[in-house]
Amino acid sequence: MKIGVFDSGIGGITVLNALRRRVTGVDFVYLGDTAHVPYGTKSPAQIRRLCVESATVLKSKKIDALVVACNTASSLALGEIRAVMESVPVFGMVEPGVEAVTESHGGSSLGPVLVLATRATVRSGAYGIQLRDRFSQNGWQTEVFEQECPLLVPMIEEGWVDHAILHQTIGEYVHAHRSSQPPGVALLGCTHYPWIQAAFERALPGWKVVNSAEAVVSHLGKVGLIQPTPVGLSRLQGAVDWIFSDPDAVPAFAKELVQG
Ligand code: DGL
Repeated sequence: MKIGVFDSGIGGITVLNALRRRVTGVDFVYLGDTAHVPYGTKSPAQIRRLCVESATVLKSKKIDALVVACNTASSLALGEIRAVMESVPVFGMVEPGVEAVTESHGGSSLGPVLVLATRATVRSGAYGIQLRDRFSQNGWQTEVFEQECPLLVPMIEEGWVDHAILHQTIGEYVHAHRSSQPPGVALLGCTHYPWIQAAFERALPGWKVVNSAEAVVSHLGKVGLIQPTPVGLSRLQGAVDWIFSDPDAVPAFAKELVQG
């Protein structure tokens, strides 16, 4: 089986690596649209056009399924991507993200949920709508906040994953929530953010910071596409065909992870 993994840049590698640690006998095609990252500050129409172009490239690679490992593309262009992929099943980030938050939250006695994402994802309303629906079905009074963080993806693509400016910027984005009592659950609603999970944990003391890459693995297991191993494997599995629309724009720290 061959699974395609798509992101605007290097963020989707967090999802790809989570899959490669939990499945054997699967090969991958990774497409990072590094010529056009970031998507999160572009208009919905531009994002949809870029996603259609990338999906067309992935379709020609004869993949058996596609994981849209980009929350921005998942929030705004899943329909357009599915139309290009025709009978190839396409999975996005929002459903697994909502599942992951619901599992780690556990009820109204806990604090709020804070979705950290790109501007386009937040403005699409995708997470807010689905989380509020899920919570009202569960009878929870949990508050949902969504914070757009437009400066973070360019810093991550620049390799500034532990830079003073990054820590200060995250501090600004979360300051309204950091002292909420009780602390809540923060969802990394952008696949770039697991690269800087430690910085979010530092900025939100006591909060649970949820990384949805693992949730994607569980979701693909639940729908029967893969059979994940119960624990992570010691080595990354499967061959990867790497495609970057601008190979020179791949940051040095990510190049080290771009292996076989
Ligand atoms: N990694 C992507 C996401 O999950 C996109 C970031 C961007 O290109 O702005 O939203």
